[in-house]
Amino acid sequence: MQKIKFFSGQTIPLEMHRAKVIQKLTLVDIDQRKRHLAAAGYNQFLLKNDGIFLDMLTDSGMSAISDRQLAAAMLADDAYAGSRTYFELENKVKEIFGFPFFLPIHQGRACEHLLAKAFVKQDDVVAMNYHFTTTRAHIMVCGGSVVELNLPDSLDNSSDNPFKGNFDLAKLKALIGELGAARMPFVRIEAGTNLIGGQPLSLENIKAVSNICRQHGILTVLDASLLQDNLYFIKVREAACKDMSIREIAREIADQVDIIYFSARKLGFAKGGGICLRDRATYDKMTELVTLFEGFLTYGGMSITELASIAQGLEETMDFDMISQGPQFIAYMVDELDKRGIPVIKPAGGLGCHIDARAFLGHVPAAEYQAGALAAAIYLAGGIRSMERGTISEERNADGSEHFADVELVRLAMPRRLFTRSQIDYAVDRIAWLYQNRALVGGLKFVKEPSVLRFFTGELAPTSDWPTKLVAKFKADFGDSL
Ligand code: F0G
Repeated sequence: MQKIKFFSGQTIPLEMHRAKVIQKLTLVDIDQRKRHLAAAGYNQFLLKNDGIFLDMLTDSGMSAISDRQLAAAMLADDAYAGSRTYFELENKVKEIFGFPFFLPIHQGRACEHLLAKAFVKQDDVVAMNYHFTTTRAHIMVCGGSVVELNLPDSLDNSSDNPFKGNFDLAKLKALIGELGAARMPFVRIEAGTNLIGGQPLSLENIKAVSNICRQHGILTVLDASLLQDNLYFIKVREAACKDMSIREIAREIADQVDIIYFSARKLGFAKGGGICLRDRATYDKMTELVTLFEGFLTYGGMSITELASIAQGLEETMDFDMISQGPQFIAYMVDELDKRGIPVIKPAGGLGCHIDARAFLGHVPAAEYQAGALAAAIYLAGGIRSMERGTISEERNADGSEHFADVELVRLAMPRRLFTRSQIDYAVDRIAWLYQNRALVGGLKFVKEPSVLRFFTGELAPTSDWPTKLVAKFKADFGDSL
């Protein structure tokens, strides 16, 4: 992919795969989209898939599987205990990461649940480059708290730092000095960062974090859920790594840390997850948690076909052509939106294209959830489901007041190998129309608000009749077009 130049001089993402199985999509008209949105309480998670044209909510479990993954799933050896397929997965994980112990766990947050249970005590502090929703929730449930050690420019859109996911090493040293290692059960390294636009970390930074933690006897835990994009960025953006293979980079990262966990819904184009451990005593302790909460040690809450798909998917993750597709499509979408003046997070990261909703909807008050409102408007405009990654995704403060997010983002996730360039062009077209008409978009308010992870099941309503006005303008501009 990297090596193919176009005669025209254009740079467009070129797929190094072909679609052998397809699923038909439908686009319902804007009146139906408005009804679907109201029925879903203006929450993208509560929309039914039938009303959605492009599902860009998440890449989690949504990437297209390969012919080899499908074939591996067909050949899987089904057994409650001792399945050959499990051992093939265990061997693949050990081969790539070089860890002696592996625990199969049914998804990423289940790994977080078990790690928090095993390591986090009341008043502990877990430092990380940036939090993720489920990670922080599990740490808090165990009585701990999270401190973010992101760079001063990690949220600054005018900075072109290629590794905005890096830790601020001075902040890490200061925190250890202040708290002492005893209150810090581990430092979590998220590669790359979900909530700040899929921004990657450099290998150099991972090494530095690991050195500091080792000097103080603090464990390092790598959340490798988004590793495939981060591997790509290290190869193409970190000069010292440009001649390394993806496999070498993956091993070098793994060598720096004590524990790795991952959501295989993201890493490996499949579903499921797992934890890699170095030491026998921790493994023995954690096997008890796996059998209690997940399932037997040779399936960990996953179906055997998923285990087979992960093993093959991890192998495909070591293929530079395979992992280039996601970041290159994301960069294409970011560039196209940027050319039209739409505020997007730059440099383009992994996971998806992120729109800065605070800049897009500057006239909507922060208390009316700019990112949630923009996600609703994008669905109305194009039947495109995106994800709110802003204040709605935060938990309220202990006194019940709103905890405003550092950034108000709308994420248009790019499940790998799933969308075509013309579908991306369609999304860009509809979002460009919306940007021209952004003054028509208003805010949202909660009508049903769960006390934890409210973004999943909370219900909202528009603060005015702005959806009706937006629909009318769409009809005036697009006539009878869907
Ligand atoms: N860690 C990271 C960095 C993630 O992005 C996710 C999930 C998890 C852990 C939890 O994994 O979903 O398998 O339980 N992110 C999804 C998303 C939900 O849409 O960004 P899970």
